[in-house]
Amino acid sequence: MAKIHSSFICQNCGAVSQRWQGRCDVCGAWNTIVEESPAGGIGAKQAQGARKGRVFSLSALHEIDQKPSPRLHTGIGELDRAMGGGFVPGSIVLLGGEPGIGKSTLLIQACAALASQNQRVVYISGEEAVAQIRLRGLRLDLGAARVELAAETSVEDIIATLSQGQRPAFVAIDSIQTMWTDLIEAAPGTVSQVRGTAQALIRFAKTSGAVVILVGHVTKDGQIAGPRVVEHMVDAVISFEGEGGQNFRLLRSVKNRFGPAGEIGVFEMTGQGLAEVANPSALFLSARQTNTPGAAVFAGMEGSRPLLVEFQALVTPSPLGTARRAVVGWDNARLAMVVAVLEAHAGVKLSQYDIYLNVAGGLRVNEPAADLAAAAALVSSLSGQSLAPDAVYFGEIALSGAIRPVAHGPARLKEAAKLGFGRATIPPAKPGKGEAEAHNLRVENCDHIATMVAAIAAASGHAGKKQSAR
Ligand code: TYD
Ligand code: MG
Repeated sequence: MAKIHSSFICQNCGAVSQRWQGRCDVCGAWNTIVEESPAGGIGAKQAQGARKGRVFSLSALHEIDQKPSPRLHTGIGELDRAMGGGFVPGSIVLLGGEPGIGKSTLLIQACAALASQNQRVVYISGEEAVAQIRLRGLRLDLGAARVELAAETSVEDIIATLSQGQRPAFVAIDSIQTMWTDLIEAAPGTVSQVRGTAQALIRFAKTSGAVVILVGHVTKDGQIAGPRVVEHMVDAVISFEGEGGQNFRLLRSVKNRFGPAGEIGVFEMTGQGLAEVANPSALFLSARQTNTPGAAVFAGMEGSRPLLVEFQALVTPSPLGTARRAVVGWDNARLAMVVAVLEAHAGVKLSQYDIYLNVAGGLRVNEPAADLAAAAALVSSLSGQSLAPDAVYFGEIALSGAIRPVAHGPARLKEAAKLGFGRATIPPAKPGKGEAEAHNLRVENCDHIATMVAAIAAASGHAGKKQSAR
């Protein structure tokens, strides 16, 4: 019998190689290559009895007058917001996140909320028994919810079952890594199975008009196929994130074919499940101590939502030859850049100092607009002068030391005013401002980093004088 050649597929990135190797050439991950049978693979069954193509009719874009069906609102505001205003019927969504972060909890709460609107909702778990899901439901006080449950892992069985009776409005599959299809000879959780089952479920969503949400565990060691391999197949990818030891969770839309990506929803994990956090800025600033040097409040944006967070810096003389720089919650390279600009253009000597920078609350900030807040925190820590407790900062610092305008200035100022802040150090305004006055904020437009450093130094001199006068 002729030898059947197998393919070796990286479980991390999906790259195919002809032989086994310890490290994937494409993504560089170790121990992720698994042998998968060639008989498996999408479309393998059809290929055996090759058939002639069917002729179908094409439609002109302008002639299609199908009205979009209304979006499905769960009523959980933060979830609907992350989805860009509810779920689009017939769409397929991947909910990614590390194990234990709260994906199943979020889904069962979403299912219960939808079921209470008299929608048919089905929750299929490949990880927990029905009794366990019910127990969780009781714990979340959702015992009365009319969610249909099953513990199943065969997609063919699941689709056959779902196709009977009334069309479900919402189907949760927990998780895609536990599902398998007959068409593919590979273990559940391998790239081929994850792709094959996702494809079958996508077809089901598109033909039935149900919203299908797939849970995908993101594991760091890559032994189980990462849900990354299905990211391009689904309509939307939302990721559930949280820092160890913190109770809040961020639901971030990474991709959305039907709305803006980058939107976030904020939740808090409580004893009774996930609670919505309607005012996240207040949460992130709740433990703030004013009058401590090294803390600056950044008026940031996450998607279309303004969010205030505290940047904390610690600048101390370095006992070692090489100064340490450590950053949590922000970009290392941007800190290095801000430090270099402070040295070169504002005369702030930092090379002999260890620098630690932390974004309070465990949030990860990705915006260059945080440059100015980071710089203010650094200068404040170095000078020992605390910044005004009612001040916020935002602005991007150029390598020349100039402070450049950033997007959504008015929204940031409005949020700051809403939380009781009285002043803002920001880039020079574009013509046609006037927003800030309306919010009762005193705006200090700052066009160069040296100006801001001078302002902090002046405040410090002021405080010094006051103290010596006493
Ligand atoms: P879970 O939804 O099972 O996580 P995932 O599906 O992402 O793996 O959440 C598990 C964690 O959430 C677990 O550590 C306990 C915690 N939890 C609460 O704190 N409160 C609750 O009400 C529930 C149901 C879970
Ligand atoms: Mg789970």
